[in-house]
Amino acid sequence: MSEVVSYERDGDIGVITVDNPPVNALGHAVRQGIVDALDKGLADDGAKALMIIGGGRTFPAGADIREFGKPPQEPSLPDVVQVLENSDKLLIAAVHGTALGGGMEITLGCDYRVALDSAKMGLPEVNLGLLPGAGGTQRLPRLIGAKAAMQAIVEGKPMKAAKLKDMGVIDEVVSGDLKAEAIAYAEKLVADGAPRRKVSELSVEKESDNVFSEFEQSIARKKRGFLAPFHCIKAVQAATELDFAAGMKRERELFTELLNSPESAAQRHVFFAEREVGKVPGISKETPKRDIKQVGIIGAGTMGGGIAMNFLSAGIPVKMLEMKQEALDKGVALIRKNYEATAKKGRMTSDQVEKCMSLISTSLSYDDLSDVDLVIEAVFENMKVKKQVFGELDRVCKDGAILATNTSTLDVNEIAQSTNRPEDVIGMHFFSPANVMKLLENVRGEATSDEVIATVMDLSKRIGKVGVLVGVCNGFVGNRILHKRQAQAVKLVNEGATPSQVDKVLFDFGLPMGPFAMADLAGLDVGWRIREGLREDDPENAPERDWMDALAEQERWGQKTGGGVFDYAEGDRTPRPSDTAMAEIEKYRKEKGIETREVSDQEILERCLYVMVNEGAKILEEGIAMRPLDVDIVWIYGYGFPVYRGGLMFWADQVGLDKIHAKVKQFYDESGDPVWQPSALLEKLASEGRKFGDL
Ligand code: 3HC
Ligand code: NAI
Repeated sequence: MSEVVSYERDGDIGVITVDNPPVNALGHAVRQGIVDALDKGLADDGAKALMIIGGGRTFPAGADIREFGKPPQEPSLPDVVQVLENSDKLLIAAVHGTALGGGMEITLGCDYRVALDSAKMGLPEVNLGLLPGAGGTQRLPRLIGAKAAMQAIVEGKPMKAAKLKDMGVIDEVVSGDLKAEAIAYAEKLVADGAPRRKVSELSVEKESDNVFSEFEQSIARKKRGFLAPFHCIKAVQAATELDFAAGMKRERELFTELLNSPESAAQRHVFFAEREVGKVPGISKETPKRDIKQVGIIGAGTMGGGIAMNFLSAGIPVKMLEMKQEALDKGVALIRKNYEATAKKGRMTSDQVEKCMSLISTSLSYDDLSDVDLVIEAVFENMKVKKQVFGELDRVCKDGAILATNTSTLDVNEIAQSTNRPEDVIGMHFFSPANVMKLLENVRGEATSDEVIATVMDLSKRIGKVGVLVGVCNGFVGNRILHKRQAQAVKLVNEGATPSQVDKVLFDFGLPMGPFAMADLAGLDVGWRIREGLREDDPENAPERDWMDALAEQERWGQKTGGGVFDYAEGDRTPRPSDTAMAEIEKYRKEKGIETREVSDQEILERCLYVMVNEGAKILEEGIAMRPLDVDIVWIYGYGFPVYRGGLMFWADQVGLDKIHAKVKQFYDESGDPVWQPSALLEKLASEGRKFGDL
């Protein structure tokens, strides 16, 4: 008998237990083990019915994703489900935890499904760029109808037991001891002479073609660039048109196509990368962590309010500190307004709103921060002001309190040096809107202690963020790369492209918006003020005034003023080409004596994206990001880099580093611009025929 699957009898019921921590993934040994255990159960004369259950924390959570891409090993998962369905004895699935993907498909091979009230089930394969490939697309429509099945499979979200009972997937929901309850349920089925119920033998109602094409249209925008959702629809449609065996064949063909697709390889990379970013070399489960029971936030502006909401929503009390009562009142009112808007959309109850609001307290005095465990500073982006704030914090905060800054450009080490406890200082760089964006760049200073890092990485997860640990440099990982791309976008326009052309190329690549729509969203005034500051403080090294500055000077600050690089109609966020902006661009070109030329889409793509890859490589070289996957996750969660391309560095590997290096070198030779100086790491990998993924 396999070690990961066991068989034992409990009264009249034969129990097959899968025990393959942590999530009972259905790897080869488990699949073989289930088949062997089933044989044992079938041969056991004392077993009147059989039950399959997961050991530990969950029913199997799916196929073993690590096996994808390796040579398949028999028995396959569809075969295992078929063998279960062919069982001569009544078979019951007893579910707790998360029966996902292949796990849920196993339950569909059983006659009856009983689940703990806390259990969830679902078919999330679409998130890995796949479709349910062990009969899920053929059996689920037979159980709940094609429309509901298509919805569930394309959404890929785990569903709660109660909902699944209403849908007709789960037969019985129990609470308490699942095994005991499920055995009692199985015994009752036996006593009642319950019939066998092979899902594959149920009929499925035919739907008109429109049902599928309309559904496809309804998801077209949201799922732009993804392959799997559309294959899922095709597979469900096949269930309504073909008999079960032919439908299974079609499911396999579509599954295999997806398995071999670059989109799925990218999405599987993201799945593991997302889990890997939380693991910091040198920090383990044993690294001590501090207890964060109460948080202080300095500054109730754009960022402070959003940051506060993350903690309030996670049930952690927040004390907000400002310079004036008026600013506090405004900040708190905005937080309430945001929660109430969420409640209006039905995503929160009014009780939950009040619960969150009851966790905020406010103050105008630093002395009130003496008992908080963590302070996050979100005051103006000015070193003098930040140093003053950290000096105060050092004075009032208790020993062991973590002092964090949300600075987006300033040197965390210099801020830390304004305290007598630099080991307790760290950057927590939230992205705007801070209550929505999932990325959190945690910035490790030279002196930051492991304990502080471990606590903040753990806390990131607790407040629903994806925390990525990065080092100190201007712009950290995300904005440092972004700024290089934005500069190329402006240069391309100077040379002859239009803002709309540049934006379209990057939108078509899969980004949520192009560089100029993004600049209009963030506000042209932000960069302009920074550049103006530099022109005042350090005129020799400050950037030249360009057409973006000219637009900002006219108070064309973007969406918020109804126009920036693009024009915006009242109440509409669609960027429209702007004559005013084009006139400024022309004026600038003339002033500089630039002879424009036709800029190809290919050049736009290469210059905007390869400059990012080169910068990403420099960031790795300098140790600012620990691994290429950290850069990938920063760009996916901070800027919407398309998941189906796997992130910036993963995408570069697919393009080929030799190809990218050659272009980077060409652009460097042509322009002499230091940004194109090839990164030593990129050069090395390209010459050795290696990838970032090999590091
Ligand atoms: N295969 C291999 N490893 C898996 C896995 C899987 N299906 N699911 C989780 N793991 C691993 C994780 O990588 C992680 O490993 P690590 O500790 O070495 O980093 C460990 O199990 C624990 O996972 P999480 O950190 O994610 O634990 P959580 O408790 O936060 O979440 C979970 C548990 C909800 C089960 C989540 O892991 C999850 O969503 N897993 C993926 C489920 C899935 O996509 N299933 C479908 C697979 S495809 C399939 O079944 C194809 C079939 O149709 C043919
Ligand atoms: P903001 O101007 O909206 O808010 C700053 C708030 O801090 C104001 O309400 C001000 O009254 C208060 N404040 C200033 N000095 C103070 C002091 N000494 N004590 C108490 N309160 C004080 O600015 P915003 O946009 O929220 O930025 C705050 C920080 O977050 C900056 O460091 C910025 O670089 C960073 N950041 C901003 C992002 C953005 O998109 N706005 C994104 C990521 C980081």
